[in-house]
Amino acid sequence: MAELEQIEAEARTRISEAESLGALETLRVEYLGKQGSVSALLKTLGKMSPEERQEKAPKIQGLRQAVAGALADRKQAMEAAELEARLAAETLDLSLPEPAEPKGSVHPVSQVMDELAEIFADLGFAVATGPEIEDDWYNFTALNMPESHPARAMHDTFYFPDQAPKGGRMLLRTHTSPVQVRTMMAEGAPVRIIAPGRVYRSDSDATHTPMFHQIEGLVIDRDIHLGHLKWTLETFLKAFFERDDIVLRLRPSYFPFTEPSVEVDVGYSVEKGRRVVGGSGDAPGHAWMEVLGSGMVNRRVIEMSGLDPDEWQGFAFGTGVDRLAMLKYGMDDLRAFFDGDVRWMAHYGFSAFDQPTLSAGVGASA
Ligand code: PHE
Repeated sequence: MAELEQIEAEARTRISEAESLGALETLRVEYLGKQGSVSALLKTLGKMSPEERQEKAPKIQGLRQAVAGALADRKQAMEAAELEARLAAETLDLSLPEPAEPKGSVHPVSQVMDELAEIFADLGFAVATGPEIEDDWYNFTALNMPESHPARAMHDTFYFPDQAPKGGRMLLRTHTSPVQVRTMMAEGAPVRIIAPGRVYRSDSDATHTPMFHQIEGLVIDRDIHLGHLKWTLETFLKAFFERDDIVLRLRPSYFPFTEPSVEVDVGYSVEKGRRVVGGSGDAPGHAWMEVLGSGMVNRRVIEMSGLDPDEWQGFAFGTGVDRLAMLKYGMDDLRAFFDGDVRWMAHYGFSAFDQPTLSAGVGASA
């Protein structure tokens, strides 16, 4: 039995001298592993007489527990020391002075997208996204624009040479509407989402840039009708422009993916050379301005997205985020949005600490 005590003493010394978790593991295998020395002792119990076993079993078990305990204690101590060292090394000096002037600002497009997400979250809309490099099928075909459809010609599409998996070529999405199809296919119904993001068209002048931003809205449920669309747009525009006197004019229009289709105008007046949204466009000194395309989702789109159009209906809308930003915050040249001029950003950018919230106002001061 003196042999057991000797093994234990030696194990304790070696464990206490182990320098790393790797070395500890080697010791564990040496003593307690399948081929380990303590394990070998345990195996001898089987060949003993009952009397001998009764005497030795508790001692050998005791040795096993002593070695296992020493290993566990040493491991815990090592881990604690490692954590201690990390905590000591990873300090954060909170006494650094603030910069002399604020550096950087939030781009108006990001600001407006945050405002829109906030407004629509309050109405129960989630934010969905889709790829900017899109498959012809999602951008056009599934939106009821088959290969020869004349509406395709109006999109000034940037195509890639690559064949798309679902037919046609890969392209830069020309609108956020393909996210409608992707969301219905991935999530089924009901759906209540907005989809903000970049879109691309080969077009460039003071009011058009080859890349711009849209936000899509989609509601799919049972018994959705045009009244829901009108209320939603009215509620959204009033919250966005922070005015109760927003007046909408709904005009019949055409989009292949909505039927009926409705273009939405808001009334505005011009004050100090700036368009100010509010009031009826028919009032003296006022006019109408188109801000949105929308309509009831075409049943063919619902069908191609894998849902039963006799069960599910809905509405969709799309609008330009850059244009909404210009209208609300008074910039007049769209191209400046994408020049990356720090003077423009200093003037029109927003504080990163001014997160839009419904309670504090979605119109943070520039
Ligand atoms: N996708 C259309 C566009 O880019 C806008 C739109 C979206 C119209 C949803 C109707 C419904 O012009």
